[in-house]
Amino acid sequence: MFITNNELMQKAMKNNFAVGAFNINNMEILQGIIAAARELDAPLILQVSKGAREYAGRTYIMKLAEAAEKDSNLPIAIHLDHGDSFELCKQVIDDGFTSVMIDGSHLQFEENIALTKKVVDFAHGKKVSVEAELGKLIGEQFDAGEGGAVSANAIYTDPEQAKEFVERSGCDSLAVAIGTSHGAYKFKAEPKLDLERLQRIRRLVKIPLVLHGASSVLPEYVAVCNSFGASIQGSKGVPEDQIQQAVKIGVQKVNIDTDLRIAMTAAVRKSLSEKPAEFDPRKYLGPAREMIKEVVERKIKLLGCEGKAKLFG
Ligand code: G3H
Ligand code: 13P
Ligand code: ZN
Repeated sequence: MFITNNELMQKAMKNNFAVGAFNINNMEILQGIIAAARELDAPLILQVSKGAREYAGRTYIMKLAEAAEKDSNLPIAIHLDHGDSFELCKQVIDDGFTSVMIDGSHLQFEENIALTKKVVDFAHGKKVSVEAELGKLIGEQFDAGEGGAVSANAIYTDPEQAKEFVERSGCDSLAVAIGTSHGAYKFKAEPKLDLERLQRIRRLVKIPLVLHGASSVLPEYVAVCNSFGASIQGSKGVPEDQIQQAVKIGVQKVNIDTDLRIAMTAAVRKSLSEKPAEFDPRKYLGPAREMIKEVVERKIKLLGCEGKAKLFG
């Protein structure tokens, strides 16, 4: 049986580690993640975006995740990533998801609270936990300044507002904007998270915190992609030591998708290029699954999550 994000993150908060939340889109990605978690006896959050659900199909993605949970016997939550409406949250809860994110970060403060509260009221009735977001992860187009936001105060999470938001919305965890962003191009200049802001948020907000856009865009995997025909230029992620500092300050869920995409692409490109006569998909998707496992093991260790499955009895 899947557990909720809340169960995972409360344990993580008490024991000073973070749980990796990995995006799944197909069987090989999922199997790579599960293989790593089994190897290191780690709890997991499997997360599904709206796009992933549409790509794989509502039934397929759920059945794949159920198979992974049953097969691995690990503490696993199944979570909706960036839910954009009450209706979508409701649908996945009907499907059996144990956690949803309602992303109202683009809305005005009051509207974000109202939408989040509506989802919380429904989800809690079904024993499902809710992640909300306050502040904006704008990404590459905004990062024109000194290695961080050009107008941090306007878009980064305000600690006082975060406290009020959590109290009034009733959400179980909060995604914060402190300088991360989605994708492979997170910083133009020196990568730098606003860890001082994170500390202030941590002091005021009593529930678990979430870091989106936390891929490190590992240069060695980008290099493999590029040496086999890709053109990924100027990519920059969050340095691993800054992720570790964020976990130390008190982040309990760390979202990773881009690093999995790059690892998978590296393996597929390498396999196809080295064996041009090969056309059995298992011959390039197998290595891709292995590469996912390698990256996820690295993340589990980075987050201090290794061996933590046993905390869940
Ligand atoms: O936060 C975004 C995740 O990387 C999911 O991306 O919407 O393309 O599936 P996606
Ligand atoms: P990355 O693009 O940094 O992997 O972030 C993924 C994410 O935040 C999913 O919600
Ligand atoms: Zn995200």
